[in-house]
Amino acid sequence: MKKSTKILLSILGGTFFVISFIGMNIYGYKTFYIEEKVVSSNDYRYHFALVSEEIDNEYWRLIEQGAKEAAAEHNIYLEYVGPLKADNDQLLKLIDRMVSVKVDGIITQGVEGQRFVDLVRKSVERGIPIVTVDTDVKSSVRKAYVGTDNFYAGQLAGETVINNTAGEQYVGIVTGRFDAINQQERLEGFKEAIQATERIHIVGIHESNITQIGAAQATYSLLKKYPSITVLVGLSALDGIGMVEGLQEIAPNKEVYMTAFDILPETLELIRKGKINATIAQYPEEMGYKAIEVLIQLQQHSLLENEIFTRTIVVEKENYDTFLQGDNR
Ligand code: BGC
Repeated sequence: MKKSTKILLSILGGTFFVISFIGMNIYGYKTFYIEEKVVSSNDYRYHFALVSEEIDNEYWRLIEQGAKEAAAEHNIYLEYVGPLKADNDQLLKLIDRMVSVKVDGIITQGVEGQRFVDLVRKSVERGIPIVTVDTDVKSSVRKAYVGTDNFYAGQLAGETVINNTAGEQYVGIVTGRFDAINQQERLEGFKEAIQATERIHIVGIHESNITQIGAAQATYSLLKKYPSITVLVGLSALDGIGMVEGLQEIAPNKEVYMTAFDILPETLELIRKGKINATIAQYPEEMGYKAIEVLIQLQQHSLLENEIFTRTIVVEKENYDTFLQGDNR
């Protein structure tokens, strides 16, 4: 082989080696790089988990916000997890995973059924206290509940309809999920309230799957099936916004009295514009914040008071300004 050919071959070989070496490093880095958590158990007092009904739901993000605030104040490492879409089975699996990794405490929504009750027992027996937020399951051995009195909140919704309508009324209800206990309790409260009068009738109930689009579709179907509807009541945070959309779609000129839940910015804006007549304010940030404080106390001792109700307020156009001036976090 000629000397010049040899030199050329070694240059090519060398270049190939260098390129492969760099490529291997980049490829290997991308494939195997795992974000290292700069968390060591010594850095924090406790490691808690907040398991939400749906990870990116605006309402649950507010619970997370409150919980994060309290966690930062008390030097607690808070892990926030939840299913991508509301799903009891996934939620239970996530709680179970948190029990397996031995966190110091869990905050979660109460879930319907025996599996939740068993899981809470397992967790508590392993020394991991569970605090329910937003929805309670009294029959479980959860250490405390922090959240709305959902039956009472439903009664408040019923009263808005009683106080602001006259004559026979036909109600369409949009519920977040049939298998969510808080939705069931709100519905029971609502029914109990309207029993006081004979003129208010529930004609249909549809599910929104706690999404705005789901609520718009539910409203559309309700109004299509029951054109007699004069009142719409939404029982979860995005239902009111979806109800306005759904009504606009199917019967933009129809007069319908609307009661919603929660005070997400868009809902408040619709109250201001008079498109939603009333909404039942809940305080998710307060729930998150207090739940962390309760879990900290539970690391030392049991609680005397283990049912901590957060506020519920009716917001309407009439009290909108004063409401906004108050403490609404
Ligand atoms: C309920 C939550 C639910 C949320 C959905 C709230 O009114 O309390 O349980 O996850 O609405 O957006």
